[in-house]
Amino acid sequence: MAELKRIQWDPSLATGYSIVDTQHQVFIQRIDSFLDKCTREGVSAKELDDAFSFLFEYAETHFSTEEDLMRRAGYSGHETHTQNHKYLLDQLNRVHDEWQDEGPGMNQLLQMNYLLVDWLRNHIMQMDKKMAQSVRESLPE
Ligand SMILES: [Fe+2]
Repeated sequence: MAELKRIQWDPSLATGYSIVDTQHQVFIQRIDSFLDKCTREGVSAKELDDAFSFLFEYAETHFSTEEDLMRRAGYSGHETHTQNHKYLLDQLNRVHDEWQDEGPGMNQLLQMNYLLVDWLRNHIMQMDKKMAQSVRESLPE
């Protein structure tokens, strides 16, 4: 099985807006549990699929929360940020579709790993932090 990069929440990922940070923690837990299943021997295709759906549903929920905050705050970067969320969801679906028939090959696992660890970390560090700072000014918690 592949050696995958993992992600854990730590304070360097904090955006300072508590609902966003709480949701990031849950999202990252679901990612970690999914990546754990990807690397463990003897995990059935059904278990892997369930873990994927569990994290995908939360990605949608979490992105809707952020998009709603941005809309309510009249955030100028709302559209670009929303397109970025859509990019991740589309890519996750694309990779997941690719393994529907035969299960994930190394290529799919590495792509999934990149999206859920590197892409997400960059997204939080750059887009979410910037968004949270601006949203906090018009929608204080
Ligand atoms: Fe975001």
